[in-house]
Amino acid sequence: MKTIRLGDEAPNFTAQTTVGEIDFHQWLGDSWGVLFSHPADYTPVCTTELGATSKLQSEFEKRNVKVLAVSVDDLDSHHGWIKDINETQNTNVQFPLIADEDRNVATLYDMIHPNADNKMTVRSVFVIGPDKKVKLTLTYPASTGRNFDEILRVIDSLQLTAYHKVATPVNWNQGDDCVILPSITNEMAATEFPKGFTEVKPYLRMTPQPNR
Ligand code: BEZ
Repeated sequence: MKTIRLGDEAPNFTAQTTVGEIDFHQWLGDSWGVLFSHPADYTPVCTTELGATSKLQSEFEKRNVKVLAVSVDDLDSHHGWIKDINETQNTNVQFPLIADEDRNVATLYDMIHPNADNKMTVRSVFVIGPDKKVKLTLTYPASTGRNFDEILRVIDSLQLTAYHKVATPVNWNQGDDCVILPSITNEMAATEFPKGFTEVKPYLRMTPQPNR
């Protein structure tokens, strides 16, 4: 196990999931991916997180993102829990949930932090690009549910900045102005950004979102 850093290749694995056996890289194909861990089945915060993620399924699909959850409980437990999630969160979970009983995935992705808890995983999120490289990592403690709208927002930024010479400023959302990369001269910016740009300072130049 080694720490996974941005730009590293996402470790591949084969795992049993609620939709059958998956080879992670093959399953991702040309899609983006979100791999996220849950401390344990039949726990309240996790139940709300999986429900919320399921309700955002069409938002992930729009962005060509496949979602895969991992928990160290077994498949029977997962299937029973998913029934509860569907019932209590009013949804229909379609994405796979890995049964990581041997902690293979949890170990590969350093999801167990022994000084937080010896057995359960923390709440990790890995966003993986179509090149299988890690684009984002997040780590939350078991006691704090994640904000999956924020994960979608980050994916929007990652997908925009992968193809355009911009970065996204604080609290950016789809449609907001972007900042021009410092490596782009004003001369280059004039052709790169036909909608124009505003030079607030030589190092702070704003332009309308290029792909809108
Ligand atoms: C939960 O998902 O509710 C949870 C799991 C482990 C510790 C605390 C909360």
